[in-house]
Amino acid sequence: MSRIFSGVQPTGNLHLGNYLGAIRNFVRLQDDFECIYCVVDLHAITVWQEPDELRKSIREVTAAFIAAGIDSKKHIIFNQSQVSAHAELAWVFNCVARLGWLNRMTQFKEKAGKNRENASVGLYAYPVLMAADILTYKATHVPVGEDQKQHLELSRDIAQKFNHDFGVEFFPVTEPLILGEATRVMSLRDGEKKMSKSDPSEYSRITLTDGPDEIALKIRKAKTDPEPVPEAGADLDKLREERPEALNLLTIFAALADTPVADVQAEYGGKQFSEFKQALTDLAVASMGPIGEEMQKLVADPGYIDDVLRDGGTRADALAQPVLREVKEIVGLLQP
Ligand code: TRP
Repeated sequence: MSRIFSGVQPTGNLHLGNYLGAIRNFVRLQDDFECIYCVVDLHAITVWQEPDELRKSIREVTAAFIAAGIDSKKHIIFNQSQVSAHAELAWVFNCVARLGWLNRMTQFKEKAGKNRENASVGLYAYPVLMAADILTYKATHVPVGEDQKQHLELSRDIAQKFNHDFGVEFFPVTEPLILGEATRVMSLRDGEKKMSKSDPSEYSRITLTDGPDEIALKIRKAKTDPEPVPEAGADLDKLREERPEALNLLTIFAALADTPVADVQAEYGGKQFSEFKQALTDLAVASMGPIGEEMQKLVADPGYIDDVLRDGGTRADALAQPVLREVKEIVGLLQP
């Protein structure tokens, strides 16, 4: 069976974009793949994290995985820092990857901003650690959003250069699994910005732990325009340019209802946004509410979460160790 690996960073509140764009798809892949889902805490610390907040976020992402329906017994849910092979293999890959390759990474440029001299070395080497995550398990398929495609290509380059330099056919070439439509959930305040945990406005995002009242309020306050809901047949590309907020709400509705946007337009096109927002609220509360409640229950029992992570970590480590051993053999390092 093909093997999936993917990771989510524990850096603050998970929101609807994380759920519809990533976690929900992780859940759906369980039947067809052997899945390894990782809370990538070592990636999180490439930028400053308050230690207590980090601990909380690691448990929260774990709770979200479980609450969303990932089976931690059949598959593996674990925490990156608990399996030392990730950091060890990342070092070997640091010696395979070229500076020129990393210099091309657009996410580093964005995240480091103007003050690049002051960015951590970890932030720069971030995609190398990501390659180690994937290749430690020789994962063949990696579900990621658009923004991670370039990093995935880098991990393919690293695998190929490793194989080539050492004259082996050791690492597989990983295929991206770019997830279906409706994966781009935009801010509720600005339809041209991605929904993000770093947006200063709470009203820009629905978090996974928001209750029914918060969900209702945020949808009610979501930015729209004075026009009614776009009719069926409206050109989506044109809407994206001219009415991005309207399109975003349609997209969210379609994703939650698991139907094409056209079906939502057929039902609500021409109606007032107040009516559509009420329907969207009901749908969001019905589909997200139970996940949020389950998450709250889980985070209230950190002992249970830690057990899941420990068990997952042990099983991940058992898969990783033989690969690391072989890497050491290939590179010419002595075994302990
Ligand atoms: N960089 C990814 C993100 O921010 C998270 C991640 C880390 C990841 N390691 C990975 C995703 C390995 C897929 C595979 O979304």
